[in-house]
Amino acid sequence: MTSTSTEPQDTGRQDTERQDLGRQRSGGASTGAAGPAPAWAEPSDTPLALLLLGQGSDPASERGVDCPGELPAASDPGLVARAAAAKAALGDSVFVLGHHYQRDEVIQFADVTGDSFKLAREAAARPQAEHIVFCGVHFMAESADILTGDAQTVILPDLAAGCSMADMAALPQVETAWEVLADAGIADVVVPVTYMNSSADIKGFVGRHGGVVCTSSNAKRALDWAYEQGEKVFFFPDQHLGRNTAVLEMGFTLDDCVLYDPHKPAGGLTAQQLRDAKIILWRGHCSVHGRFSLDSVNDVRARVPEVNVLVHPECRHEVVNAADLIGSTEFIIRTVEAAPGGSAWAIGTELNLVRRLAKAHPDKQIMFLDKTVCYCSTMNRIDLPHLVWSLEELVAGRVANPIRVDPQTAAHARRALDQMLALP
Ligand code: 13P
Ligand code: SF4
Repeated sequence: MTSTSTEPQDTGRQDTERQDLGRQRSGGASTGAAGPAPAWAEPSDTPLALLLLGQGSDPASERGVDCPGELPAASDPGLVARAAAAKAALGDSVFVLGHHYQRDEVIQFADVTGDSFKLAREAAARPQAEHIVFCGVHFMAESADILTGDAQTVILPDLAAGCSMADMAALPQVETAWEVLADAGIADVVVPVTYMNSSADIKGFVGRHGGVVCTSSNAKRALDWAYEQGEKVFFFPDQHLGRNTAVLEMGFTLDDCVLYDPHKPAGGLTAQQLRDAKIILWRGHCSVHGRFSLDSVNDVRARVPEVNVLVHPECRHEVVNAADLIGSTEFIIRTVEAAPGGSAWAIGTELNLVRRLAKAHPDKQIMFLDKTVCYCSTMNRIDLPHLVWSLEELVAGRVANPIRVDPQTAAHARRALDQMLALP
């Protein structure tokens, strides 16, 4: 299995090779203005509302619901000591996982931090932990539940920590889309691939149809595998990761990609368009990474001539095209760690991570790619009061906010997740 841990893979090539999932643009860390805009253009916004948190939201969706418990006050000066005491009392029975987009106040209590791929592997590798407290978002906790044993419990400190991207693909929509492919006569040759950032239902669908889950650190390997199984790929729910991987890493053209819009009849595509496509992209995106624009890249290059632009593959194609390096959160961290002192980095990913990198590397100039401050609001739902509450509930012998995927969905989803973990 390809490592996702600490060292970038040395491929021996410097200009066009991705490391792990990272990609360096031709010519290395460019210093000039971004090149001409590509033919592809961002479609207008999805009609789906993005973040309907709290009361009145659909509890079956990734958006989750309000916290059902008595939360400690955020102003309580004893929160850090309370979290430390609860964790110490729980000892090895609890294991805390923290995604890189979590707040510092939460990350300080994580036993392991990582991107979604690393955290899925870490969850699967802790059979001795009775409770896994997942400081991340709902789809990550679901995947951890699927990958852990029946006697283990996965806890999400705030059930409102959903993901707007995962919400953009609902099972009935995906089932309808599969019927559209069947009507076009191509369902038998299409392999479904879903980004980790999708509900357990969607992973179950993909497992039932012989597909695979991927993350931003193994999307190319997942697509390579999928094209060995069939002729075409249906990629859910992040159009950008799908397009960026297909075009920048697999040699497909933008014309090989079509965009399936679940809000239009037959996805807004003709049967011939579906038959001609090599990759069918679901019309979903990340509301955080979708903010970065070609203008932000051009602006920072004009302001800081030696800057290296490093972005996550959830960014739009035109942004990724104009960047110097592309990769998952784990790749972004390793790249900055390995960079020489004095180098300048404009980073296109969630702000908690960029701020943490800036703090950890005062000898390097690290800036957020967008001019406007932008956190992932659902990642930020997990704060210290929620973490303290879930840990203290465990100390009291109660399990707050367990995430349990129904066994049938879990069995199908597990097939697609295991296939991901087995990728070469
Ligand atoms: P990775 O953890 O795969 O880098 O993905 C980032 C993300 O958006 C998680 O929600
Ligand atoms: Fe979802 Fe984007 Fe937030 Fe990740 S950063 S949890 S993909 S909205």
